[in-house]
Amino acid sequence: MKQPDLTRRQFIATASAGTLAAVASTARPACADVTRKAAKLAILGGEPVRQNKSWPEWPHVNDEIVDAVVKTTRSGIWCRIQAANGTVPTFEKEYARLLGSRFCVATGSGTQALHTCVEALGIGPGDEVITSPYTDPGTIASILSARALPVLADLDPASYQLDPGEVEKRITENTRAIMPVHMMGQPCHLERIMAIARKHNLAVIEDAAQAHLSEYQGKKLGTIAPLGCFSFQSSKTIACGEGGAIVGDDEALMDRCYTVHNHGTNRRGRTELIGPKYRMNEFEAAVLLAQLAGAQEQFRRRNQNAAHLTARLAGCPGIVPQKLYPGTATGSFYLYAMSYKREHFNQVDRARFLKAVAAEGVSLSPYIERGLHREPWVDHIVNAKGYSKLYSARRLRQFRDEMDCPNCDRVCEEMAMLWASGPLLGTVSDMDDIADAILKVYENRDQLERV
Ligand SMILES: Cc1ncc(COP(=O)(O)O)c(C=O)c1O
Repeated sequence: MKQPDLTRRQFIATASAGTLAAVASTARPACADVTRKAAKLAILGGEPVRQNKSWPEWPHVNDEIVDAVVKTTRSGIWCRIQAANGTVPTFEKEYARLLGSRFCVATGSGTQALHTCVEALGIGPGDEVITSPYTDPGTIASILSARALPVLADLDPASYQLDPGEVEKRITENTRAIMPVHMMGQPCHLERIMAIARKHNLAVIEDAAQAHLSEYQGKKLGTIAPLGCFSFQSSKTIACGEGGAIVGDDEALMDRCYTVHNHGTNRRGRTELIGPKYRMNEFEAAVLLAQLAGAQEQFRRRNQNAAHLTARLAGCPGIVPQKLYPGTATGSFYLYAMSYKREHFNQVDRARFLKAVAAEGVSLSPYIERGLHREPWVDHIVNAKGYSKLYSARRLRQFRDEMDCPNCDRVCEEMAMLWASGPLLGTVSDMDDIADAILKVYENRDQLERV
């Protein structure tokens, strides 16, 4: 049954999960706190909302992690091929089990995981892959590394996710795959994207680099398409500095991923494909394994805190949290993302709002300043010798001319987000500080002109 799209506010209002409802019911009403009104903004010399308090650190270091690294160091097993039961193969089994997937291949980064999948699917020169302009450069690097063409489709500006209608418009006879990105760790409209892929016989690689443990329609993100990829770079909610993983249920395809990531050499030692060397090392896996036991509890806490924060911000027209699609159950809350609506702040630009909130003791970020359609790689490809051998001049001109993503531009202009891996592990009082800082600035927006 087709359901209407939900804003996060509506989602919180209708969510059946007991925790969300319980948390929301304890929230103070938003935008109605008279004590915040007529308060002097901290940036103009007033009292800050939050002073002399720190946020939970991220990445989170504990004795288990330190002990695991020491143990691996002393073991002398530093590389996955030294032992079948080393930390990398063990992590692969545990991570697959945590996500409800049959197989996992660990890599040295999320970008490496995505590139491995592109190669394993046989996508290469002359092929096209459709993805988002609003993502980490690693997403398109994985396609460019295979000398394929990353074709960018515009966003749904309220969810910051790929707009499935725009994806369908970008399909050509050379399109081989769609690489949907679950931005901010929340599900993109995967149901519609999977349907489009089935209709046009395209592969799908989920870029779940930000979306550890997030759930959509009863499944974990990264496990819905045949291949899903994760990043464990330091800022992510499961982290080891640099690291990545591929998950999937198709044994033959996952074996191919193993072979590609192992310089083309299969599990039986036969070199049979072209591939880079992208193996995760034993230290990275030791750090990850030591985190898995606590990851679910941290995930629950971030979801509870996010629900509280969203309930506190409800009704503030100037700050609109990320829209969630039907079927969204939980998110990783790697980032807590909101749109700044300047029309509700007397047209004051976002930079002044962010400065004022920072002075209240809460740091929000504009995040990605320009969509990837506005980066110089586009001209580089159009002029690169190699690409002009692989794609017609007409196609490359069209590719450049179609790099027009107005909704992505709007998202880049409006984004005001919190790096949430650490802060969302805080207390309810920490969440109230975030909401109070934002709402104080909103209530006293007349003062922003003097900032
Ligand atoms: C959406 C997305 N895709 C891909 C990547 C690339 O992952 P890595 O940095 O581990 O290579 C990232 C990393 O931030 C990401 O956020």
